[in-house]
Amino acid sequence: MTTWGFIGSGNIGSTVARLAIAAGHDVVLSNSRGPETLADLVSELGPHARAATAQEAAAAGDIVVVTIPLKAYRDVPVDELVGKVVIDTMNYYPQRDGQIEALDDGSTTSSELLQAHLPQSHVVKGFNNIFFQHLRDLARPADPAGSDERSALAIAGDDAAAKDTVRRALDALGYDTLDLGPLAEGWRTQPGQPAYGTQYAADESDWAAGARRAGSDEVAGLAVRAVREV
Ligand SMILES: NC(=O)c1ccc[n+]([C@@H]2O[C@H](COP(=O)([O-])OP(=O)(O)OC[C@H]3O[C@@H](n4cnc5c(N)ncnc54)[C@H](OP(=O)(O)O)[C@@H]3O)[C@@H](O)[C@H]2O)c1
Repeated sequence: MTTWGFIGSGNIGSTVARLAIAAGHDVVLSNSRGPETLADLVSELGPHARAATAQEAAAAGDIVVVTIPLKAYRDVPVDELVGKVVIDTMNYYPQRDGQIEALDDGSTTSSELLQAHLPQSHVVKGFNNIFFQHLRDLARPADPAGSDERSALAIAGDDAAAKDTVRRALDALGYDTLDLGPLAEGWRTQPGQPAYGTQYAADESDWAAGARRAGSDEVAGLAVRAVREV
């Protein structure tokens, strides 16, 4: 059994936690306000979930998901994550996160910022370009990898072993994986790009209307159409 730690337990964090529990894992959740504020979510998720501080969640996780507003990435515990696989779901929204010059001028990517903050961890970008309700609804754990029923999630990372760990973890959650390459390629699935989530929407103008399957070929075809405007 694997323990998943969560730095952030909002829309995406709680959805990934739900899928991880369904796959037979334990989860340790955290947020900015303290474990007591997660009591309702923990009770809803059941005995395989508990709440903790961010430091405790980082220390407890075999895999740790960082899923907070990007502006708070420097708050992510460093020492507790040394040597670990860290999945980064974060996106850059200047209106929420403030202007970040190194992202505005294209000299780096948001996941590389997190990797620089966690120099001894293995950051893998994942879950960043799927609306949380689609992530919940498209999971197909009972279907084998490559099945026509499955959707694919894009990942990026600089460490091949860490990406393989994430690929196997996503497989258990019910998703195929599309490897975009190193973290520097992660911009291809950022906000505003063709692969930023519409592929999973039944209705592109109303993401709450439901989900549709998108496999590896479709996601790959959208990712190569990305254009960097800097
Ligand atoms: N929503 C989506 O469908 C979606 C899809 C893909 C990627 N994303 C990206 O994933 C990230 C999370 O999105 P979300 O929609 O899940 O956000 P959300 O619902 O607003 O949840 C954010 C979570 O982060 C916690 N948090 C904030 N600052 C923190 C800190 N300094 N330390 C620890 N925890 C902190 C919040 O805790 P408190 O409530 O206690 O502050 C909350 O649990 C964002 O970067 C977003 O752009 C979102």
